[in-house]
Amino acid sequence: MEKKFKRTTVTSALPYANGGVHIGHLAGVYVPADIYVRYLRLKGEDVMFVGGSDEHGVPVTQRARKEGITPQQVVDRYHKMIKDSFEEFGISFDVYSRTTSATHHKFASDFFRKLYDDGKLIEKTTKQFFDETTGTFKTDRDIVGECPHCHAEANGDQCEKCGRDLDPTELINPRSKENGAKLVLKDTTNWFLPLNEYEGWLKQWILEDHKEWRSNVYGQCKSWLDMELQPRAMTRDLDWGIPVPVEGAEGKVLYVWFDAPIGYISNTKELCESDPGRWGTWQQWWQQDDTRLVHFIGKDNIVFHCIIFPVMMKAHGGYIMPDNVPANEFLNLEGDKISTSRNWAVWLHEYLRDFPGKQDVLRYALTASAPETKDNDFTWAEFQARNNNELVAVYGNFVNRALQLTQKYYDGVVPACGELTDYDRQTIAEFKDVKLKVESLLDNFRFRDAQKEAMNLARIGNKYIADCEPWKVIKTDPERVKTIINISLQLTANLAIAFEPFLPFSSKKLYQMLAVEPLGWDNLGSTELLKAGHQLGKPELLFEKIEDDAIKAQTDRLERIKKENEAAAFKAEPVKKEVSFDDFEKLDIRVGTILSCEKVKKSNKLLKFEIADGLENRTILSGIAQHYQPEELVGKQVCFIANFPTRKMMGLESQGMILSAVNFDGSLSVITPQREVKPGCQVG
Ligand code: 2FM
Ligand code: ZN
Repeated sequence: MEKKFKRTTVTSALPYANGGVHIGHLAGVYVPADIYVRYLRLKGEDVMFVGGSDEHGVPVTQRARKEGITPQQVVDRYHKMIKDSFEEFGISFDVYSRTTSATHHKFASDFFRKLYDDGKLIEKTTKQFFDETTGTFKTDRDIVGECPHCHAEANGDQCEKCGRDLDPTELINPRSKENGAKLVLKDTTNWFLPLNEYEGWLKQWILEDHKEWRSNVYGQCKSWLDMELQPRAMTRDLDWGIPVPVEGAEGKVLYVWFDAPIGYISNTKELCESDPGRWGTWQQWWQQDDTRLVHFIGKDNIVFHCIIFPVMMKAHGGYIMPDNVPANEFLNLEGDKISTSRNWAVWLHEYLRDFPGKQDVLRYALTASAPETKDNDFTWAEFQARNNNELVAVYGNFVNRALQLTQKYYDGVVPACGELTDYDRQTIAEFKDVKLKVESLLDNFRFRDAQKEAMNLARIGNKYIADCEPWKVIKTDPERVKTIINISLQLTANLAIAFEPFLPFSSKKLYQMLAVEPLGWDNLGSTELLKAGHQLGKPELLFEKIEDDAIKAQTDRLERIKKENEAAAFKAEPVKKEVSFDDFEKLDIRVGTILSCEKVKKSNKLLKFEIADGLENRTILSGIAQHYQPEELVGKQVCFIANFPTRKMMGLESQGMILSAVNFDGSLSVITPQREVKPGCQVG
């Protein structure tokens, strides 16, 4: 029998406060969580949406070091920036706090202390890398060294070149990333959570009792549980974080993945204490069996939310377990992995600068290509198509037609509905059907398909108006047109409800145009939302076309970033095997002046040069047509190899080879003497 829940606690991963928010975050976690929460609220359910910034952890200290500021300054800056971005995109948190708050520090500290006092943690001494010059232990990510497999420079936890996971002790010549200091292994004591002791319980709870979880989530849990779980350290030798509340643990802090999920609970506490009349106690939201807990996260967070955090709560006792963890896969950008360090991202604050007021367009496009079961790709071309072909041409077009016709025929007053035809009844039945479909998809966290169904409602509307042709019927049967327009307006009001979880800004605008208060989810499917005689507001366009130049500006920006990244990643090739001077002297390299240059017919690579070489002139063919226009080279001097055997290409003879430098991106640049010299001079 399905369990009856009285309330739902929805959490969304706390983003690290070491950078802004990009479309990958929005698509993977925050938009789906927000859709879900708005849907539950619309249904009148009791729901709390918890968010906040994750302000501890190595990424924050790394950023601070890079910028020469304190970790607190880093998190102050980015917490504000992230919070503002979420607000601007309508991510409707009930609470958005931070893990540096006093409430959180105390809560997380007490949580740890209870585990410690109850004997739920194991004390272990291990060897860890230590920098004697600064007197600090180093985390895996703070260590660099030579990869034992491919000998490239690698990080302590992974080699980017060959992709292997590493343990920092495997590195050859491990050094501190911060200052290059040689590292030594030193004993340190930390506290571990014995995940292995909970293996049986986890297997039953996830693999048996939650077979309905998304296959990507279930699969990842299964592969963890199929390997033997190991005790995991819950404390770290670092100076940024929550001090370990145990005597003699100076210089140690709670592991960021221990304190961050507790942030969900402490943020709940903060909200409840700020308005107990509305929210009750935090325990209701985390410890009562009639509460349902749902975590929205990205795939890299699965193990923390399905295994480690549940074990922490189980060991502590008193907590409910997540009912579902609808994790998404990753969103790529134009075919490449989104990366903060390579600036390969669409940042929300930049998007809003370039597309002011178009939050819903991005929400729509991201949901339409949400990486729900596999990685997906965001492209600007698709973004434009979603806007122009769906939001404008389907949804916006239908609403505009219904409102404009009402304006034209009835001065914006809702006409009365007369007798229904079979076709009217069929249309009404179709859109009633959409409600059930959207609901069942949303209940199963299938946001992409749910949004498609909402759009279907607009398609039904467009078809209805097109088939009924009120602009023709008005001449022969004006009474019938009243019914057509009435049904179209009821459909329009239905669209405002159906799209509210997905496109909250547009629904708000639509309600204003309809001059009604927002309607609840239960009204979806009703044909009596707008009473006859009701005066509508002023019709406006709900969406506007996005032109090609706006899209080109975005793709050009990405092109530029790609070039910059390639240039930054350029590494000179290792020097070739030694040759003797005699070998070099065998090559006859000379300078020539280009007399003429033209494209070789039927070849998109070759250019044909006539070159003054101080002798009888010569013809050289060179594969640089994609890098130069023929006219830009005429009159220039170039270096060429004069004593190669004559070669035939495309039926033409080439007497030598023009020398070019090959740039990092493969582009070619001919070699020209720095001062003009006589044609035929030798290079040596
Ligand atoms: O992966 C991340 O960005 C983490 N900051 C997520 C933390 S989620 C939770 F546990 F707080
Ligand atoms: Zn390697």
